[in-house]
Amino acid sequence: MSAEKVAFGIDIGGSGVKGALVNLETGEYMGDSAYRPTPQPATPQAVAEACKELLDELKITPDIPVGVTFPGPVIRNVIPFIANLDQSWAGQNVSDLMERTLGRPITAVNDADAAGLAEAVYGAAKGVPGAVIVTTLGTGVGSAFILDGKLWPNVELGHLELDGFDAETQVSAGQKTKHGWTYEEWIPRLQRYYSHVEMLFSPDVFIVGGGVSENHHLFLPHLELRAPIYPAALRNTAGIVGAALFASQHA
Ligand code: BGC
Repeated sequence: MSAEKVAFGIDIGGSGVKGALVNLETGEYMGDSAYRPTPQPATPQAVAEACKELLDELKITPDIPVGVTFPGPVIRNVIPFIANLDQSWAGQNVSDLMERTLGRPITAVNDADAAGLAEAVYGAAKGVPGAVIVTTLGTGVGSAFILDGKLWPNVELGHLELDGFDAETQVSAGQKTKHGWTYEEWIPRLQRYYSHVEMLFSPDVFIVGGGVSENHHLFLPHLELRAPIYPAALRNTAGIVGAALFASQHA
């Protein structure tokens, strides 16, 4: 397989840093993935070193493009704010930081944008015309706008103000776990959130990812929305696959 059809994706999350080589024709992993627990404290330097370990472990050669997801907006390579990782990330140029530690250029992308792009190219939003909103329910709430297959990056619907609160503090899967909410207790919160997003943006389709989407049958059918709401197809590989795809498109 030629080098253009392969890229390496790294997904930085609150609990783990994962990486895998991705076949860009199929959107599937090639070989094993590698994992390190997110260092605590999750400072930029400590996380960059974990990323380097993944590349070393899987012996990723310098000709392979590398994409890295971050749980915050990435504007011209700078993360202006971050909700769920060490605050020292705010204001960092993450491409420079990674390049210094990894010794190679990387492409930086918001985690939900990576997942959204992967869903648009390989998953539940593939070939879907019109406006698709992909949300990821994890520690935070991530969002991606896809219009006719194209991404509008750095949309932060997790931080919409909802009833006087930052929305992700009311609806994320992380909060569900933290407070021990049952699905019955969580569903009205999701309903309030998705109804509000639908009123504001009128998407044609919603897609919901994040680890909890494996249990989509327990909550998605209970949401009453005008637009259909589907589970993500790639589930926990979407971030890595999207990061790899982003790297191949922007390297
Ligand atoms: C961040 C987003 C991110 C989401 C999921 C939010 O707190 O602001 O950029 O996509 O969490 O990690």
